[in-house]
Amino acid sequence: MINKTAVIIPAAGSGERLGATIPKALVQLVGRTLVEHAVANLAPIATQIIIAAPSGYESQFSALFGETVDVVTGGATRTQSVKAALAKINDEIEFVLVHDAARSLASTDLASRVIAELAAGELAVIPGLAVVDTVKTVDHQGYVTNTPDRAHLRAVQTPQGFDKTALMRAHQAGIEATDDAALIESIGGNVKVIAGEERAFKITTKDDLAKAHRLLLPDSSSDIRVGIGTDSHAFSTDELRPLWLAGLHWPGVVGVDGHSDGDVAAHAICDALLAACSLGDLGSNFGESEPEYANAAGEKLLKETLHRVSTAGYEIQNVSVQIVGNKPKIGPRRSEAIAALSSALGGVSVSVSATTTDGLGFTGEGKGISAIASALVVKR
Ligand code: CTP
Ligand code: MG
Repeated sequence: MINKTAVIIPAAGSGERLGATIPKALVQLVGRTLVEHAVANLAPIATQIIIAAPSGYESQFSALFGETVDVVTGGATRTQSVKAALAKINDEIEFVLVHDAARSLASTDLASRVIAELAAGELAVIPGLAVVDTVKTVDHQGYVTNTPDRAHLRAVQTPQGFDKTALMRAHQAGIEATDDAALIESIGGNVKVIAGEERAFKITTKDDLAKAHRLLLPDSSSDIRVGIGTDSHAFSTDELRPLWLAGLHWPGVVGVDGHSDGDVAAHAICDALLAACSLGDLGSNFGESEPEYANAAGEKLLKETLHRVSTAGYEIQNVSVQIVGNKPKIGPRRSEAIAALSSALGGVSVSVSATTTDGLGFTGEGKGISAIASALVVKR
């Protein structure tokens, strides 16, 4: 992304209608919390992420993300929570996306489309869907006062995107509303509605949570495919060569030889993904006939593989990689490695394990590193 974008995630609600004993954003959905889903989906487009947490839960939210996000204490209303987060925005930020933690499944693509409109000059951009029901306005006694023309109605979603200065000014007006676009409207600003998406629905009730489960987990009629991939490289005799592994630089460990950065974990994952989708392998996708990938970093290959997998109509369910070698020790940096690989793959679930080989073979003799990966994908 060229433009610097901050993502504000109001997550300070209690989730009364869901009826859980913990704040809604911390409720689990297929192995991670709602707020983790929201962060994973928007992280690929974000320069800065700020979460407004319920008072008393700040450290629990910080523990989920470490240094990658800023956590502020939310307010009594959604508007107050967003305002608290706005105070933390870095100076270099141009665009701000405000995104409900409760719209946990909104996609990276939706966020990119919002940003594209901002980059084209819009000051406020919101996703919305056409309304299927006829909508009435009613008075306090329940009598209909008006029937707006359905063709002009949109049910709006988040992420809502804004020029930073415009959003700051709108919040200074001190008005309360259930979304941020309404604040821009109140100061006379233009708000552009673009096509929303079904999966950006707000998780409000237990039924919504069940619907989110169904969307994430493949059912028995899904076309599910697995792939495997391996890669190996020898340690270099050049003591100064840096080691790149699992999307990370490992200072103090000599790198491996090879035409690329030699990131065996990233390469094994790319091969597993391409194999799962019957898209060939690393060589056929990024080999000599594709010179722009010569010496490419593992991260670049992962991003391009994700693009090819998505274009072929597949969604990644999860990826698992095992690194084989005496060094470096993976354990202390496991969560960093998972974050780097997952971020390059658009926030998918990644696991990273490691093993030595009891002194046997080239890995056991300390001559090189290997990785073995598997990937599960579902045809959309
Ligand atoms: N929110 C917030 N601060 C508040 C109230 C709401 O940051 N004081 C956030 C919620 O955490 C949620 C988003 O605003 O991500 C949309 O609100 P909603 O879906 O209504 O969530 P809750 O208020 O938690 O749910 P409920 O209204 O059922 O209590
Ligand atoms: Mg609420």
